[in-house]
Amino acid sequence: MKKILALLLFCAVPLVFAEDINCLDCHGKDGDLPIHVDKFKNSVHSDLACTDCHVGADKVKKGEVFEEVHPDNLEGKTPQCTECHEEKVKGLAKSVHSDLSCSDCHGTIHDLTDDALLSQNKFKIHEVCSDCHDEVVEEYVNSVHGKGLIEKKNQDSPSCLDCHGDIHSVLPKDNENSPVFRGNVPQTCDKCHDNEEIMKRNGLRTKQSESYKEDFHGKMIALGLLKAATCADCHTAHNILKSSNPKSTVNKKNVPKTCGKCHKGANENYAKGNFHTSHKYKEDKWQWIYGLFFFFLTTGTMVALIIHMALDANARLREKREKKKENKE
Ligand code: HEC
Ligand code: HEC
Ligand code: HEC
Ligand code: HEC
Ligand code: HEC
Ligand code: HEC
Ligand code: HEC
Ligand code: HEC
Ligand code: HEC
Repeated sequence: MKKILALLLFCAVPLVFAEDINCLDCHGKDGDLPIHVDKFKNSVHSDLACTDCHVGADKVKKGEVFEEVHPDNLEGKTPQCTECHEEKVKGLAKSVHSDLSCSDCHGTIHDLTDDALLSQNKFKIHEVCSDCHDEVVEEYVNSVHGKGLIEKKNQDSPSCLDCHGDIHSVLPKDNENSPVFRGNVPQTCDKCHDNEEIMKRNGLRTKQSESYKEDFHGKMIALGLLKAATCADCHTAHNILKSSNPKSTVNKKNVPKTCGKCHKGANENYAKGNFHTSHKYKEDKWQWIYGLFFFFLTTGTMVALIIHMALDANARLREKREKKKENKE
């Protein structure tokens, strides 16, 4: 019934179609709901027709009330993006952010000029997250990574997305496919910290990533035993600081507390020596020499012991044989 009525109405009123309508007659500077035409003309979408997004908006007639102006009733109809950004629309619908709209992060869509493009301004990404994740963002901004990226404009330093993956399909951290799922954290940090080129450029080393793989925790995590420590358990995720900083969770002063989260009764002994020691000569000469020394010391002792035992056994055997001989005689 409604449909028939609508059809009747549709035929009764002469509609003006897209080619004939200048949307800006009414949405220009002085019209109803004016849009920022200047910005729109400089935006990424300047080549688009208004109706590429506002599907149906071209069914306009003159009138005072909104429903009459746009008889298709645009109100509540979200502008369409799927035609060109299908992957993002679908990804978002399945992500933790399924309740968000594109504008929550990208701002007013008409105003997407170059300086507002998140894809070109890595050091601005955290700003859009701060509306809803203010605590995380505050920590991040003061961390080595945040300072590196935002203050030093060091493009090698991670934004939120280098650790969390594609923002249009972010998953919760307890999903196995999330890059920050416990079992995946080491690989996520290692994208950079185990990459010789990136580390060299930043005056850092790959030693920590390498030693973690040889370490008890690293081996357990690789086997899927997720109670062991990941990089983020010791360094935190968003509050990563240099070990020399007294506020760092891996500063000598704080190491007992950090290890103590899992090792009951962890004391100062946990802070003795270096945590990330490598067994490779190139990385840690003294550790390597130390290892070699102990290798020879232990194998040397073993060999000496075996020789000693063999000689001893031989001597006893000979003694026995001689005694037998003596007894026979
Ligand atoms: C004859 C004048 C007129 C023309 C031409 C016109 N509009 Fe509108 N439009 C309006 C009025 C009036 C409103 C309602 C304003 C209000 O609610 O205060 C409106 C509302 C809208 C809205 C807001 C819908 C919402 O959800 O709030 C959009 C989007 C829109 N128009 C797009 C367009 C597009 C795109 C064109 C060109 C194809 C166009 N309009 C042509 C008068 C016009
Ligand atoms: C007819 C095709 C088309 C439609 C429809 C369309 N876009 Fe785009 N969009 C583009 C093109 C082309 C670019 C520039 C190239 C690129 O980055 O993909 C772009 C770029 C963007 C960007 C760039 C962001 C950045 O940081 O670089 C955003 C955000 C965006 N579109 C959002 C939207 C939203 C939201 C909608 C729906 C309301 C929409 N687009 C509808 C074609 C379209
Ligand atoms: C939670 C925040 C967030 C939401 C919601 C969001 N985006 Fe993005 N988008 C970003 C960030 C951050 C970037 C820049 C990083 C990048 O390039 O992936 C980006 C980049 C883009 C780009 C340019 C990069 C490319 O791959 O072409 C397009 C196009 C885009 N978004 C479209 C959309 C559309 C369409 C929606 C809604 C369906 C949307 N975005 C929703 C945060 C968001
Ligand atoms: C790339 C897609 C896209 C194009 C092209 C586009 N719009 Fe929009 N428009 C939107 C989105 C999305 C909104 C909702 C507000 C927001 O998220 O920025 C919107 C909102 C509006 C509104 C409601 C008022 C407001 O500012 O919220 C009007 C009116 C409007 N658009 C008119 C136009 C006109 C006229 C054109 C052509 C000159 C146009 N739009 C081109 C995506 C688009
Ligand atoms: C408009 C609000 C809003 C914005 C903007 C926003 N988020 Fe979210 N985010 C949410 C909500 C709501 C959730 C789901 C509730 C929750 O678990 O905290 C969420 C969840 C997440 C999660 C998963 C948390 C978990 O439990 O594992 C990550 C990661 C995330 N957001 C990253 C980002 C990043 C990165 C940005 C910026 C590019 C961003 N968000 C922008 C609202 C937002
Ligand atoms: C160096 C990598 C890294 C960077 C950069 C990073 N995160 Fe995370 N994030 C993680 C890890 C790892 C976790 C999981 C922590 C855990 O399991 O407790 C996490 C968890 C989260 C969560 C879930 C809630 C929580 O605190 O556990 C949110 C929300 C989040 N991150 C948002 C962000 C935002 C927003 C940014 C940018 C401002 C960002 N992250 C930057 C690695 C990172
Ligand atoms: C996208 C690359 C990238 C990712 C991913 C990354 N980092 Fe970093 N990290 C860097 C860069 C680059 C620096 C140096 C930043 C600067 O000072 O400009 C750094 C600095 C550090 C430092 C301080 C080193 C020092 O001696 O100054 C620590 C600790 C650290 N990262 C730990 C981690 C952990 C833990 C993770 C994973 C949760 C991680 N990083 C993920 C690139 C990355
Ligand atoms: C069990 C705790 C623990 C785990 C797990 C761990 N670290 Fe560390 N990390 C430390 C401690 C403690 C230091 C302080 C220096 C030292 O003792 O070697 C440190 C130092 C570092 C440094 C040098 C920072 C500085 O300022 O001295 C980097 C970079 C680093 N770790 C990266 C990583 C990465 C990447 C991972 C995971 C692949 C990881 N760490 C896993 C405890 C840990
Ligand atoms: C997220 C929890 C967690 C944190 C934090 C953690 N560990 Fe562990 N660690 C484990 C688990 C689980 C094992 C497996 C054996 C066990 O249960 O004791 C282990 C094993 C070890 C082992 C080898 C086995 C043994 O008990 O001798 C050493 C050494 C060790 N951790 C040292 C440290 C040090 C040093 C720190 C702090 C810098 C630390 N751990 C932080 C969970 C953790």
